[in-house]
Parts: sequence; structure tokens; C-alpha cells
Amino acid sequence: MNAPPPSVRFDAVESADYRAYRRFVNAARNWDVEKGYVELHNAFQREAEAEGATPKTADDALAILDRLDLFRTYAFLFRNIQRLKYAGHGYGIMPYVLEQQDTLLPQLEAIAAEGVAKGVLHLDPKVPVPDYFKLVDFHQHPGGVDGNPLAGLQYELARRTRTHSRVFANQLYRDIFSYLPKGQTFDRVLDWGTSFGAGLRTWLHDNPNSEGHGVDISAPCLKLAYARAREQGIEANWWQQDLEHLGFPENHFDMSFFAYMLHELPPGRTPALLKEVHRVLKPGGFFIGMELVYVDGSPFQNAIADLEGWLNDEPFMASCFNTDYEAVGRRAGFSNVMITRFTEMADGAMPEDKRIPPRSTWNIFRFQK
Ligand SMILES: C[S@@+](CC[C@H](N)C(=O)[O-])C[C@H]1O[C@@H](n2cnc3c(N)ncnc32)[C@H](O)[C@@H]1O
Repeated sequence: MNAPPPSVRFDAVESADYRAYRRFVNAARNWDVEKGYVELHNAFQREAEAEGATPKTADDALAILDRLDLFRTYAFLFRNIQRLKYAGHGYGIMPYVLEQQDTLLPQLEAIAAEGVAKGVLHLDPKVPVPDYFKLVDFHQHPGGVDGNPLAGLQYELARRTRTHSRVFANQLYRDIFSYLPKGQTFDRVLDWGTSFGAGLRTWLHDNPNSEGHGVDISAPCLKLAYARAREQGIEANWWQQDLEHLGFPENHFDMSFFAYMLHELPPGRTPALLKEVHRVLKPGGFFIGMELVYVDGSPFQNAIADLEGWLNDEPFMASCFNTDYEAVGRRAGFSNVMITRFTEMADGAMPEDKRIPPRSTWNIFRFQK
């Protein structure tokens, strides 16, 4: 009998140059979004006062910001530091992973073949990919999370450089799950947009009696999800499907959860997407997750939040901020619709000076069928 394939490992060959480069990129980004953000806020206030302006909307704020050199610097750094992260000077994530593809790709493909043979990794190369997914390289990831066979590994690396510590430790998911009713069990669970499976693996680690299913359209991400679950000794089912056309029967899941998904989907498609997840949930089942939202009462923050979406090639971010998900949820058939502040994460990006709004904040969405 052949030995089982080893896992997908590239940390062992991470060079000192690569680590130094990554630290530089992180430090530059943190400088921009922390100190740069505060400086920009103060410059914005001074300009608004000098003009006697009282901006009420993101667009009003943007008109003022547009007159500031510092605004252009902030925006330039925000866009281009992210580009460096992926592609810069041989040390970015793309060249780093692709230079090792002769080792990594056979490892990943052997593990994926095992998952397919076991009947838990369900790949469907013929699944129609929605246009909105193909047209943009989300997060400026060249080719996107489906753009090459190692795109899942690239996304996993990119996520490690996120500044919010809760995201690193998967605490984010546990925080989301804490908004589910206490004492209730969820026998069959769907991770809606699972990517490389971090959320579903966290759920199954904590709820080993649950049956877990993760859906995503990206095969490279799903292969990695299977590989990482296998390393953890976690059993789950990974499905390559479009969330708008789920291949599950009606009334099938007790709960479905999501993280960072709504802003990736065009609000024009959101009604159909929510109707579809409503269809596969059992009566009484929950659809729960978190998403970025505007900070209330701060046109400055709202303008920056819109801007960062555009700059980072996340074209639905601004319209996501302006979508009434409560109404969309009710129209999709959910009877009990709650959207509330995600306190565990909401204060994470808080500047020391409390007069300055956090750069980002999140809500919890909990819809019941
Ligand atoms: C921001 S990532 C999600 C991250 C993931 N929820 C987590 O916690 O790590 C967005 C994911 O949505 C997937 N996606 C986007 N549109 C989709 C669609 N229509 N159907 C299935 N997956 C989709 C992408 O492939 C990507 O993996």
C-alpha cells in the first residue's frame, strides 16, 4: 500500500529575506491605516472647519478629502502596499509560492486526489462561475482566489498578514458562534463561502458531533481546506458550488454561517443568494455571520471605508454598506432578522484618541428561518 501523501508545507523553506520583506509590508500597512488614518482624520477636520463645511454623507466627506495631498498619499499607500504584498520584488506572495510550485503542487494534488477518492472533496470543474467573480481580482490577488492551482495557498498566506489578532487565532469564528442560541445543537452545518475552510474547521473542532459542509466556487481553496482539515484530523465535506445554486435539498441544514462574504457578492444578486440559503435551511434554522459596516455618524469613516473597497478591488464594498440586509433577509423568507453590533471585533481598530472613529467596524447578522 502506498504511504499517504504528506501535507502541503512551505513554511520550512521561508527565507529570511522573505520574512523581512513581509515584516516591512506589514509595518508599512499598519503605519498607513493607524498613524496615517489619524493624521488624515485631523487634516480632514481642519479643512472642513476652514471651509465652514458640515459634511453629512460619505460623498460630502470625499469632496473635502479630495482637496488634501495627504488623502492621495493615504490612498496611494493603501493600494500599493497591498500590491507589494502579493507581487513585489520576488518576495511577494505570488513569486514566493509560484517559485515552489514544483514541490507544492504535487503535494496539494495528491492530497486532493485522496479527498476526491474518499468522497469528501466534491470538485466540479463544470460549475458555471458567475461573471462578477471572474471580472475582478478581489483583494488585488493577481487572478483572484481561483486564478491558479496554488491560489488557495496564496490566499491563506495573505490572510496571515491581517492586522486583526482575532482573525489569526480563529477566535473570529468562535465569536460569531457565540451569537447562536445557547444550549442548542446544530447537527448539520453549512459554511457559506468556506474558502480554505478555517471557519468550518473551527466549528468542527469545537462541535465534533456535527456534520460539516463547506461550499466555495474556488477549487484551489477547497483542496487546501481538505488538506488542512486532514492535518487536524477533522472530517468534513467540501463542495465546489455556486452559492446561488446550492446542490442540497430543501430543509437540509440546521445552521449556516459566513464571514466576510456579503461584500464579496453584488447586492443585485444578494436577494437570490439569501433565498437559496433560506431554501436549504430547516424551519427554525439559523443563518449567521459577520460583515463590515459603516461606523454610524462618521461621514469621514464612511468615505474611507468606501475608498478602501475601491482601492483594494472589492467593487461591491460600497454598495454593501448601503444595502438594507434586514429587508433583503425578510424578503428572502427569514422570519426573525437581527443585525447587531459585533462588539468582540468592533473595537479592535479603535484609535487611541477616542474622538477619532474606528477605521472599520462589523455587525453580526443572525437570520432565522
Ligand atoms: C473573503 S473569502 C471568504 C472567507 C471565508 N469565509 C473565511 O472565513 O475564511 C470569499 C470566498 O467566497 C467565495 N465566493 C465568492 N462568490 C462565490 C459564489 N458565488 N459561490 C461560491 N463561492 C463564492 C470565494 O471563492 C472566496 O473563497
